[in-house]
Amino acid sequence: MIKIIQKKPSFSQTLTKGLKRVRRRIYGFRAYVPGLRFQHLRETMVGPVGYWDELQQYQFNVLVANGLRPGHALLDLCCGPLQGGIAFIRYLDAGGYVGVDIRAPNLAAGYRQILDQDLAAKNPRLIRSEAFGRDFLGDAKFDFIFVSQTLYLFDDAKTAQLIALAHRVLKPGGKFLGDILKPELHASLIYPNCGWLCHTVESMRAIAESQGMEVRSLGGLRQFHYPARLSLSSNLMLEFTRKS
Ligand SMILES: C[S@@+](CC[C@H](N)C(=O)[O-])C[C@H]1O[C@@H](n2cnc3c(N)ncnc32)[C@H](O)[C@@H]1O
Repeated sequence: MIKIIQKKPSFSQTLTKGLKRVRRRIYGFRAYVPGLRFQHLRETMVGPVGYWDELQQYQFNVLVANGLRPGHALLDLCCGPLQGGIAFIRYLDAGGYVGVDIRAPNLAAGYRQILDQDLAAKNPRLIRSEAFGRDFLGDAKFDFIFVSQTLYLFDDAKTAQLIALAHRVLKPGGKFLGDILKPELHASLIYPNCGWLCHTVESMRAIAESQGMEVRSLGGLRQFHYPARLSLSSNLMLEFTRKS
């Protein structure tokens, strides 16, 4: 794992950062508008604000392009306030969706949308857990596991826990998908002091193999229509599968 190194940002990086800050402030006014307050709150739980629908569509594109079908079972780890989750719940047959997050308020925002969007009959299951749901999943098995825009919060030990769980709960032939920062870009750095960790395909391979899993890169996120103007569009999508 490469720890992010801090370098002096260029003029254009400083300008971009300043413009993004102004944009965030403008969006922040929604917090004072009763009809927009919840929309703003749920977006601040995932960031960046103002891209909810596009990022929801992107998440949906990733899984459907990789084979998700309505009859499948999906484990959405670190699901947050269901940015992707709501689209998955709508698409999957009843009982097909399980979301796990460490933060109860994020799950509460998810429950609110399940009710508001009349999706209770899809019987989605949301789990608050500090162990990626390990303590609550029993012998449930999944065709897909997704960890969107979160893997870079976890160090190698935590990543190994996550991959061990994936090995336990994936059905034969199942896929675990998750994205990492693109090392060449982010080692240099746009995100000083934010604590994000820059895994590489090779560092992930070492962890995956120790847990009986294989990994390969599926390429950048833009192919799944991640908004190109967001810097995380350069992230790489990885696919983990159980070693046969
Ligand atoms: C950037 S958000 C991404 C949410 C969602 N996957 C998406 O892409 O819309 C990161 C989420 O990971 C959750 N999270 C962070 N650490 C976690 C952990 N150890 N276990 C479960 N969830 C965690 C946070 O609470 C937050 O909801």
